[in-house]
Amino acid sequence: MHLSDEEKAMYDGRDGPAVQKAMDLLVRYGEALGAERLVETRNVCATITSTTPFQRDFAQTRGGMDAVFSEFSLDSQEVVPIPKFKVFTSHLQLGFDPGQPERMGIDTQTLQFYERSERHAAGLGAQIMNTCTPYQVGNVPTRGEHCAWMESSAVVYCNSVLGARTNTEGRESCGAAMLTARIPDWGYHRDENRHATHLVELDVDVESVQDWGLLGYFIGEQVQSGVPVVHRRGRDIGRAPNLPRLKHFGAAAASSGGVELFHLVGITPEAPTLEHALGGKKPVEVLRYGPAERRAAYERLNTTAREAEIQYVMLGCPHYTIEQIWEAAQLLEGRRLHPDVQLWIFTPRAIKALADRSGHTRIIEEAGGVLMTDSCSAMSRAVPPGTRAVALDSAKQAHYLPAILGVQAWFGSTAECIEAACTGRWQGGLK
Ligand code: F3S
Repeated sequence: MHLSDEEKAMYDGRDGPAVQKAMDLLVRYGEALGAERLVETRNVCATITSTTPFQRDFAQTRGGMDAVFSEFSLDSQEVVPIPKFKVFTSHLQLGFDPGQPERMGIDTQTLQFYERSERHAAGLGAQIMNTCTPYQVGNVPTRGEHCAWMESSAVVYCNSVLGARTNTEGRESCGAAMLTARIPDWGYHRDENRHATHLVELDVDVESVQDWGLLGYFIGEQVQSGVPVVHRRGRDIGRAPNLPRLKHFGAAAASSGGVELFHLVGITPEAPTLEHALGGKKPVEVLRYGPAERRAAYERLNTTAREAEIQYVMLGCPHYTIEQIWEAAQLLEGRRLHPDVQLWIFTPRAIKALADRSGHTRIIEEAGGVLMTDSCSAMSRAVPPGTRAVALDSAKQAHYLPAILGVQAWFGSTAECIEAACTGRWQGGLK
């Protein structure tokens, strides 16, 4: 791998042992990928803190928070002192909501250790955003900006909607990037890999958040790790999808498949035309998405659901926007949840503060629901006790939750989920 003089100096130890380890990791990682150089990044999104009893015990017996960072964020068994981050770093979601430890089954020691690790991460320079949607709360990279992000739903949004550039990184490569401002130059950092490989011809209107989730779910299954471009012959795709629709679409495509970049002709920044998105090449496959494909995606997402009685409604995957919280609050205003149902809505901390000030949290709580932060049921592996069936408006969560926790999942619109929360029964259906 070619290294610049600055990179060689870091590699040779000029900036201390942690930076040296980070450069060594990036060089080994880049060479394994066939990268010929590193690219500069000023934007890292990663999980840094510790939320498990294993990490707590590890810190106690191996040398504190530096030991945890060395092992889990630098892949180094030798404990090295960790200096402040060189790069603007945002903390992603974690394994529970520290504001709701009882609901998530977290004991006091684990919570206290998490709080210590949060203080440590903040002390190193991390922004404690604690969300899978950093682009909602102040981390909005610009077109062409090289990033090092974890979290598949954030990566696909970063690449596709913002036109910034990142691969789906891991905790270790992000840890190394925080200390060096470098990441291997491969995959979606490079122009030649950003063109569409699969053409999806739309033959049906795609309007609601649910519709965008269904389309994303279909596309991910079909193209796996390809780059889809969505096009509607002879007309526009339709009303430009807003942030919640694009968020749900990308998250769904990154769940049923491994989509890290998509293009929507006339909407996303690298697809002003179909030809431009394809980069002058022919697609490897042309797929049609019409009413039959839409229904099939809906049925696949609802395959685990058998009982109409539900015990839990989870909203906020990916973390809800303020607009979605406002919508949910409007649907809940003046109503009460069914006594056997719990409603948990997940959002970033900063948006919860906004919802608190705007009165939405009060409406949700008066109805019997709760606004939570930092995590979600799939991440925390936590649902209310006794949950057999859950109602969801997220294709991503409907994909993962039955597999992770063995619950039945109903997937539908937000309004159907709120109705289920208030009546205790799923009455949704594809319109
Ligand atoms: Fe976020 Fe959890 Fe969904 S972390 S993208 S809400 S699976």
